[in-house]
Amino acid sequence: MFERKFDSAAEFISSRMKDKPEIGMITGTGLGSVAERISVDFNLPYSEIPHFPVSTVEGHGGKLIFGELAGKTVIVMDGRFHIYEGYSPWEVTLPVRVMATLGIEYLFISSAAGGLNPQFNSGDLMIVTDHINLTGTNPLIGPNLVPFGPRFPDMSQAYNPDMVLIGREKALELGILIRQGVYAGLSGPSLETPAETRFLRLIGADAVGMSTVSEVIVGIHCGLKVMAIAAITNINLPDCMSRISIEQVIETAHKAGSSLSLLWEKIIRGMPH
Ligand code: HPA
Repeated sequence: MFERKFDSAAEFISSRMKDKPEIGMITGTGLGSVAERISVDFNLPYSEIPHFPVSTVEGHGGKLIFGELAGKTVIVMDGRFHIYEGYSPWEVTLPVRVMATLGIEYLFISSAAGGLNPQFNSGDLMIVTDHINLTGTNPLIGPNLVPFGPRFPDMSQAYNPDMVLIGREKALELGILIRQGVYAGLSGPSLETPAETRFLRLIGADAVGMSTVSEVIVGIHCGLKVMAIAAITNINLPDCMSRISIEQVIETAHKAGSSLSLLWEKIIRGMPH
């Protein structure tokens, strides 16, 4: 049943597309500015696409953007879906399957995250090198969709190591300070307590957020090359936790978003052909 949903959404979209997209991008909270760098071919509101969920969150758009960025054909999800909105992990990741069906080879993910590594500062960008799935679920639970990938997808190199290197190199060229580290993905929507924050740091996480991991798992299942960059919008230190407001998260994400979109463009321009 789900396969048919991906297929009919993909069919609807591909009847409007001129070129096969190479890259799918997902923007995060307050991080829509990459969309401004795209030479847009056309937009599709999520509400017009069969079976697509709609974003319910502040700071998130609600459309697919088709166009060109740094000479490559891209689809950008302006606004994503989260488990905390009440969507199932299947629904959250449906757009990734649709983009994979449309032919993307790369999945580039942006997200806002809380920093756990005490060396990080608010506003930093972090290339994700690995994750810990603490959402309590997995988008691959259920019958395996054999045409997409195997029952037990390998996750030993989920975040493409070549892309991590390219990301670091391009950040250096742009003079952007870049961090790298492990992203812990939680369902949210409540933020973490000091005890949870201490736990996350102890188990090896450098940043914490409420997205990314489900999308990455499905991206890997579909055989995509995945890269993720988190904008650190606040710093969570268990011994001196400060209050976190969504306004602060969005404002810091907006500021970090302009360097992040420059970086994505440079990464895409520098990708192997
Ligand atoms: N925790 C979880 N998700 C987040 C945070 C945080 O501190 N900041 C931005 N997204």
